[in-house]
Amino acid sequence: MCGIIGFTGHLNSAEVLLKGLGELEYRGYDSAGIACFMDGGIRIIKSVGKVAALKEKVPAAFVSSCGIGHTRWATHGGVSEVNAHPHSCGKVTLIHNGIIENYHELEHELKLGGRQPSSQTDTEIAAMLIDSLYYGDAYQTIKAAVDKLEGAYAFCILFSDQPDVIYCIRKGSPLVACSTEQGSVVASDMVALLRYSKDYFILPEFHIAKLTKTSITLTDLNEERVEPEMLSVTWDMSAAQKNGFKHYMLKEIYEQPEAITRTIAPRIKKYTGEDSKKEYLLPDLTCDNIPDSLFSDINRIIITACGTAMHAGLMGKVLLERLLRIPVTVDIASEFRYQDPIMDRNTLVITVSQSGETADTLAALRLAHEMGAKTLSIVNVKGSAIARESDYVFYTHAGPEIAVASTKAYTAQLSAFYILAFRFAYAKGCLAKNEVSNYLQKLYDVVLSIEEVLKQADYFKKISKELIHTENLFFIGRGMDSALACEGSIKLKEITYIHSEAYAAGELKHGTLSLITEGIPVIALATQSNVLSKMVSNMKEVRARGAMVICITTKDAVIESSLYDFRIDIPATEDIFAPYAAAVALQMIAYYTSASRGLDVDQPRNLAKSVTVE
Ligand code: M6R
Repeated sequence: MCGIIGFTGHLNSAEVLLKGLGELEYRGYDSAGIACFMDGGIRIIKSVGKVAALKEKVPAAFVSSCGIGHTRWATHGGVSEVNAHPHSCGKVTLIHNGIIENYHELEHELKLGGRQPSSQTDTEIAAMLIDSLYYGDAYQTIKAAVDKLEGAYAFCILFSDQPDVIYCIRKGSPLVACSTEQGSVVASDMVALLRYSKDYFILPEFHIAKLTKTSITLTDLNEERVEPEMLSVTWDMSAAQKNGFKHYMLKEIYEQPEAITRTIAPRIKKYTGEDSKKEYLLPDLTCDNIPDSLFSDINRIIITACGTAMHAGLMGKVLLERLLRIPVTVDIASEFRYQDPIMDRNTLVITVSQSGETADTLAALRLAHEMGAKTLSIVNVKGSAIARESDYVFYTHAGPEIAVASTKAYTAQLSAFYILAFRFAYAKGCLAKNEVSNYLQKLYDVVLSIEEVLKQADYFKKISKELIHTENLFFIGRGMDSALACEGSIKLKEITYIHSEAYAAGELKHGTLSLITEGIPVIALATQSNVLSKMVSNMKEVRARGAMVICITTKDAVIESSLYDFRIDIPATEDIFAPYAAAVALQMIAYYTSASRGLDVDQPRNLAKSVTVE
């Protein structure tokens, strides 16, 4: 949460910062600000609202070679200009991502020393602390501050007597940096560095990066030089732009066929059978260094994640249990460590995260390690904290996901679970070679079924118009559709602000049916053939109470037309592959409903893309 950027070099830093903040805005968009070295001092401009509002306030004559910028998602202190970053005290000006947990105690100590904060933020306390410790040596100061600060932080710090230099330190919250001929850049994620370089490094925790116009020096807290571990991205700027789409979310929905193919193709290999006549497709995890023994040495699996990533986990549970016959539980990461979980070395904990930064998921992973469990993460962002701290990583190759609502990351996460389930079912002898090969062919085919759904955009627009004035809505489904209903519901809620609930369809009559009245929309997922007749009965139940039913089903399913107002057909496929096309249909409904309601689809109120606080 919160976007951070710093630049020192041969360009106008104000321009670099404003562009960067635009690219990082999805990390938080309550308020924004920049601080730049100018006219022998440091000048700060802040604004409430989006980066566009800040841009309006920055005069053309604001020219500087070094500065820092921040876009905020409020934690401590409301949304106001005084609480916006950068914060300064004495010689120190800084921006921060994270939460200083002991800020109350620090504030008390600093007040005794005669200092008085002007904002309600933990960040200003950090600025006051660092200034109180500063006598000209930035390294000693930062080291002393680190000893006192508790919580998570990524800081970019300017000292007014060290022009054109930026110091950075982090614990927990992410920071990446690169040095180019144009100057040195630091940011909270790679998206903001891309216009300068594809090569970058992740600032290691508890290391100080000193950025000057020509280089970045990385040292540990003993001031020993450390060589940064360079990484590079395979995608370019255009991957993080809208490319003609009205919103990032729509672009990302349409990118799913590619994202899925990029994720599965490197893990599917063709083999010729012993009789040299038949070719087989087999899942292969050598590029991930995930050994088959990982699944043979365990007797239970726990999947833990947040939000949409957790919903991918619900689907993973169905697949893994069905194919491997190993018990799987799915836990919300924010609850996991407080419920005294049972884990040992025979437990495999799978964490799922697009960003690889989600604080609760990271904490769950750390607990799993402490308790001796084996860990595997499914992560989209290379080198992120969750990826680095897991025993094994399965990278999804969805590319950058900018819209707050997760779409292509979700279907890429599903793909990871399919590949893992197929590989380990095959390795354990639960699936024969020809069975797994058939499954993999069908997995390739989900791309075609998604393309079919995407062709129905006009129909989704029409359905969405019916939902413009809706206040409450229900998603129902059985089996895999019940897991998918949860995802449909969060997608709709977060971007349309319509209250919705996801229900296992058979559970309706145990309470929820009392909420079904004339005209209430119910999105009925009916893609699973083994429970289709039961699902039809549940549709009858809501229909009898006057519900407006939108049914998502396969082309070949026979359902009386009197049971729905709208029927969305997805291509007929084996049940276990239906969630892909159905998920895209749900994303399209959410997208067009939000757009029809005139809402900010990509940056819904109160939310942010990466949740790096608990
Ligand atoms: O980066 P992560 O996958 O760990 O994020 C988890 C959730 O915050 C995220 O999926 C969230 O629920 C999405 N905004 C939903 O669309």
